[in-house]
Amino acid sequence: MERCVLLAGNWKMHKGPKETRSFLEDLDKVLELENGITEAIVSKKIELALFPPFISIPTLCDFNHKVIKWGGQNAHWEEKGAFTGEISIPMLLELGCSYVILGHSERRHIFGETDEMVSKKVTAALDHGLSPVLCVGETLDERNGGNAFSVIRRQLLSALEGVDSTKAAQIVVAYEPVWAIGTGRTASDTDAQEACSFIRSLFAERYGQDVASGVRILYGGSVNPKNAAGLLGQPDIDGALIGGASLSVESYIEIVKEALSVL
Ligand code: 13P
Repeated sequence: MERCVLLAGNWKMHKGPKETRSFLEDLDKVLELENGITEAIVSKKIELALFPPFISIPTLCDFNHKVIKWGGQNAHWEEKGAFTGEISIPMLLELGCSYVILGHSERRHIFGETDEMVSKKVTAALDHGLSPVLCVGETLDERNGGNAFSVIRRQLLSALEGVDSTKAAQIVVAYEPVWAIGTGRTASDTDAQEACSFIRSLFAERYGQDVASGVRILYGGSVNPKNAAGLLGQPDIDGALIGGASLSVESYIEIVKEALSVL
């Protein structure tokens, strides 16, 4: 299977509808000049996806971008009901979302999401045909205590509970070590590769080699134009989940170019 690198921009709580529209307009201007990027997207060598705050998703939907996909940063597992402040997966689908980020460390650590909640969300997304970008990753204490891999294993296997191999193939996993998020401290290429390779091996154990080689595994945590090529050049890293550096068209496009250079 030909590798398709996913460069996903997680905007977190940045950019309302106005800023989203102007980002898309600026991005389009760049893409018009950079034929190579559009060609790489059309030929499925590279995929771009943006994850704005919920309120800005309609802007992406209305803009109806030809080559860029989009998704939500979170979703509830129920379809509807008395869940103030929540958004459901069918609602995201109604707005043309291709993906939903689930189990981001900020959801786990700031908002108290448990493995069990993440697992319910993953099941619900897959049941509705929406691909989860499932985030896993250890804290600094867990890494220093030698527990990084056991945390990754626990988070991943819990999220995959009850997920069959057909559905598992729709999942994108993002390895995001908590200590590398928004800190400017990136995992080394070797550490990131080792963790992503471990994640792939867990898929192989559970679903066999075919599913394991097809599943896309991203690295996230202070990805920027300077470190992108090294990370994306690793055999088990199929893309990046980019926070801060996806907020400006310039740095996002620089990362895209770095990705193209290692394809
Ligand atoms: P930064 O790239 O800002 O470190 O954020 C990473 C992240 O959390 C993406 O989901």
